[in-house]
Amino acid sequence: MASGSGGGGCEFSSSPRVLVIGGGIAGLGAAQRLCHYSAAPHLSVLEATARAGGRIHSRRGFGGVVEMGAHWIHGPSQGNPVFQLAAAFGLLGEKELSEENQRVETGGHLDLRSICCTSSGTRVSLELVAEMASLFYGLIDQTREFLHVPETPVPSVGEYLKKEIGQQVAHWTEDAETKKLKLAILNNFFNTECCISGTHSMDLVALAPFGEYTVLPGLDCTFSGGYQELTNHIMASLPKDVIVFNKPVKTIHWNGSFQEAAFPGETFPVLAECDDGSRFPAHHVIITVPLGFLKEHQDTFFEPPLPAEKVEAIRKIGFGTNNKVFLEFEEPFWESDCQFIQVVWEDTSPLQDTASGLQDTWFKKLIGFLVLPSFKSVHVLCGFIAGLESEFMETLSDEEVLLSLTQVLRRVTGNPRLPAPKSVLRSCWHSSPYTRGSYSYVAVGSTGDDIDLLAQPLPSDGTSPQLQVLFAGEATHRTFYSTTHGALLSGWREADRLMGLWDLKMQQPRPRL
Ligand SMILES: Cc1cc2nc3c(=O)[nH]c(=O)nc-3n(C[C@H](O)[C@H](O)[C@H](O)COP(=O)(O)OP(=O)(O)OC[C@H]3O[C@@H](n4cnc5c(N)ncnc54)[C@H](O)[C@@H]3O)c2cc1C
Ligand SMILES: *[C@@H]1O[C@H](CO)[C@@H](O)[C@H](O)[C@H]1NC(C)=O
Repeated sequence: MASGSGGGGCEFSSSPRVLVIGGGIAGLGAAQRLCHYSAAPHLSVLEATARAGGRIHSRRGFGGVVEMGAHWIHGPSQGNPVFQLAAAFGLLGEKELSEENQRVETGGHLDLRSICCTSSGTRVSLELVAEMASLFYGLIDQTREFLHVPETPVPSVGEYLKKEIGQQVAHWTEDAETKKLKLAILNNFFNTECCISGTHSMDLVALAPFGEYTVLPGLDCTFSGGYQELTNHIMASLPKDVIVFNKPVKTIHWNGSFQEAAFPGETFPVLAECDDGSRFPAHHVIITVPLGFLKEHQDTFFEPPLPAEKVEAIRKIGFGTNNKVFLEFEEPFWESDCQFIQVVWEDTSPLQDTASGLQDTWFKKLIGFLVLPSFKSVHVLCGFIAGLESEFMETLSDEEVLLSLTQVLRRVTGNPRLPAPKSVLRSCWHSSPYTRGSYSYVAVGSTGDDIDLLAQPLPSDGTSPQLQVLFAGEATHRTFYSTTHGALLSGWREADRLMGLWDLKMQQPRPRL
């Protein structure tokens, strides 16, 4: 930070005013970068809620920390800026930092010590699960074949997987029972993939661009003190008062000439109008609100409205729901070395739609439970559930969720007297008004070009002033969308874009030698 300026930015009246909308990791990253620029701008981050971090949200719970949002650093190695920052801030342990850990190639699938239970209370042999995993993830890897082909045999990842599996089933030689079980296991992998992609169905995820998502090397790791320590550290590196909390922005007015009493004699191309009526004029505004929020509000959020191609990109890129349900137990009913309890519903198959009411079946979408490292004497499982069933779950009360999941656990353990969990805690990302879902994916009908389009600054036709509205956030990163590192990189990218403009301006008046 140039000279110790306090209240948001720098002393020169000629320096540009920049607004960042949203205090998630993309917004904080952009702010951090801008503050370290040689001629730091006047900077404010307007955050709708009372908390920074956005979809990085660590809460106190069960005598420890629970992650309501981001959980892992995906691909913690040198090429991952979240890993780099976490390491620099001293937030990672020796094992996470080790060369060995950084070199592990997971291909994106966590390899946990699991047990696999069925809805009739039996255990599935790990060999059978492994056989199905290698079939499923082999097919997932094969989707890369379609990366640069003009036409794919089917539009979606889901249809491709089902077509390939359908062909293989014909050659399965086991008895009917085992075949049914194999399909039920595969159905669980489909639901797991829905959680990873943040979608209701893999039929909604576009096949051709699927392989553009890039997996970095490194064995996925967590923050022992909570993911939010990362955003807290970034926040602490900003001058105080840069972040304005509880300031939901209602409308971004751009392409204008705004004059505000607080800035006599100055004219600004952009003005952020907040829900509470307050107004923040600026030369540049970096939008980092989630795609879910943009989908819902873009028609009133921008004035003048966005160009048609931008509106289309916002409409076409996918944004769905993945939620977590934490259950607290007095005593663990799982073995101490177990890391994941997979739940397989015997009557399900990816090749068959079992259309029935959400009320009676929502819990079958839940893929199973991650065993959290035990806090003191508390034992906690974390369930994952995606899609419409996940959104339905958000409408239920804690008691209803607890009751349904107790019944599920009694079934899969075969123990009708299994004590109910002591308490439940869960995320509700779809009903969260400033998020409206979990993260983005490339939906059928869209391509990576739509992500790049969304990331393009306005005005797009080269009219001045330039770079009035810039776009960052998870959904604007073509190869790392849906991750914290993608979000962080997108914030840095837009800060760099602005600094590039200023560098150019500073060079221009200088006489050439
Ligand atoms: C359940 C779940 C699990 C996840 N797991 C992982 C994981 O393991 N690893 C990983 O890398 N990623 C994970 N992610 C994704 C990761 O959390 C996000 O990609 C990333 O945090 C997004 O950062 P962002 O800055 O783009 O958006 P956000 O963090 O959503 O920040 C946007 C901010 O904008 C604010 N805002 C919205 N509207 C307005 C408005 N009108 N005015 C002012 N402010 C506004 C919001 O309140 C929010 O603070 C997970 C996400 C979820 C939901
Ligand atoms: C921006 O303003 C100029 C001049 O008033 C106008 O010609 C142009 O159409 C405006 N652009 C948009 C996107 O509204």
